[in-house]
Amino acid sequence: MKGVILAAGKGTRLLPMTAIINKHLLPAGKFPVIYYAVRKLRDAGILDILIVIGKHSAGAFLDFLGSGNEFGVKITYKVQEESGGVAHALALARDFVGKKEKFVVLLGDNLFEDSLAGYVEQFKKQKDGAMVLLKEVKDPWRFGVPILVDSQIIWIEEKPTHPKSPYCVAGIYMYSGNVFDIISGINPSNRGELEITDVNNVYAAEGKLNFNLLNGWWTDAGTFDSLYEAVGRLLNSPGDGK
Ligand code: DAU
Repeated sequence: MKGVILAAGKGTRLLPMTAIINKHLLPAGKFPVIYYAVRKLRDAGILDILIVIGKHSAGAFLDFLGSGNEFGVKITYKVQEESGGVAHALALARDFVGKKEKFVVLLGDNLFEDSLAGYVEQFKKQKDGAMVLLKEVKDPWRFGVPILVDSQIIWIEEKPTHPKSPYCVAGIYMYSGNVFDIISGINPSNRGELEITDVNNVYAAEGKLNFNLLNGWWTDAGTFDSLYEAVGRLLNSPGDGK
């Protein structure tokens, strides 16, 4: 399977740091944030990786990751010219992935403890559709929040004022190749972005959105608080942040 890491976007919640450098290059322990996504894919046996970056700090991604050789992976880059949303960034992976392949997508600012290997194996056996990973969080309103009925995700609400479950949809997604056709059919949200939640809701409506609960810690690095939380976690994980 191939992997896609989305690492463009403006990082506005981390200003003024992100005026200088892209958020995925901010330090999280010994390594920049982006390192951990690459390593999670590699450790799950996913070695062919596309990273979608913005124009800002593009050279610094190359300075650090290069071809991927040093990290035991092969990295291809695509540039997202404007921050059109997570699904807009994902659309850029169409040629890299091919139409029929299953693949894994990570949001580059997500940091987490679980190995992806077991979930990937499970998804390989899934007939079609998509799989997402959920985590119980104290602030679900910051995220995509699933509505669960009879252990099925029937719908996901993006950043709801009144979350209907305590779970967040983590930025770890597994898709079939038809995801690109689904992206072509969605429209920008109120915040002017192509939302990954709208893509996932197409699968949910078809009853083809499976999920698992993450066991270990999970956080994004999208705000100073969550970035500091991630750094604390990583510094306590042997071999991670040190
Ligand atoms: O972290 C999980 C959450 O990520 C999900 O629960 C939400 O459903 C999902 O919409 C997303 O929410 P955020 O508002 O936190 O997404 P953010 O704009 O911070 O971007 C997430 C990642 O995607 C980040 O690593 C940068 C990348 N990205 C984002 C945008 C808007 C791109 O590559 N291009 C983009 O245009």
